[in-house]
Amino acid sequence: MELHTTRSAEETETLAAGFAADLRAGDVITITGDLGAGKTTFVRGACRALGVDGAVTSPTFTIGHRYDAPVPVAHLDLYRFVGLSSSEWGDLEPYFDGTIAFVEWPEQGAAWLPSVRTAVHLEHVAGDERTITITHADDPRI
Ligand SMILES: Nc1ncnc2c1ncn2[C@@H]1O[C@H](COP(=O)(O)OP(=O)(O)O)[C@@H](O)[C@H]1O
Ligand SMILES: [Mg+2]
Repeated sequence: MELHTTRSAEETETLAAGFAADLRAGDVITITGDLGAGKTTFVRGACRALGVDGAVTSPTFTIGHRYDAPVPVAHLDLYRFVGLSSSEWGDLEPYFDGTIAFVEWPEQGAAWLPSVRTAVHLEHVAGDERTITITHADDPRI
């Protein structure tokens, strides 16, 4: 487990970019934390480092985004789901095919998600300060 503190959105993006360097196709990364904690900001920084061009915005009102990059990147937000039905999961499954997949609000899809490589948790401390905990799958705490 790694514990980090950032003091701006840019610092969170830079931390995420470093984190992204180790990712491979098939990796699933969950991103948890309250609204405004910086989940989408973290994903944006990772996406940039993975070669995604253009805007990286929250997919809250769509199922998800799939970005072209040397390894395609998926960004899902399960906030609006209350538990996933199997047909809803059928719509989501292609986002995990050959991608590096970031999942915000993974709690809703716990029963269906492919195995998680890394769990990232952000907490709003005060002002622009955030703590970011990165836990890898080989860690028993995940
Ligand atoms: N240290 C920080 N890390 C991440 N975001 C920060 C930080 N400080 C301020 N912010 C701001 O907090 C907001 C986080 O929004 P967002 O990433 O969309 O959160 P979430 O996806 O968790 O709801 C942005 O407006 C961002 O600029
Ligand atoms: Mg978000």
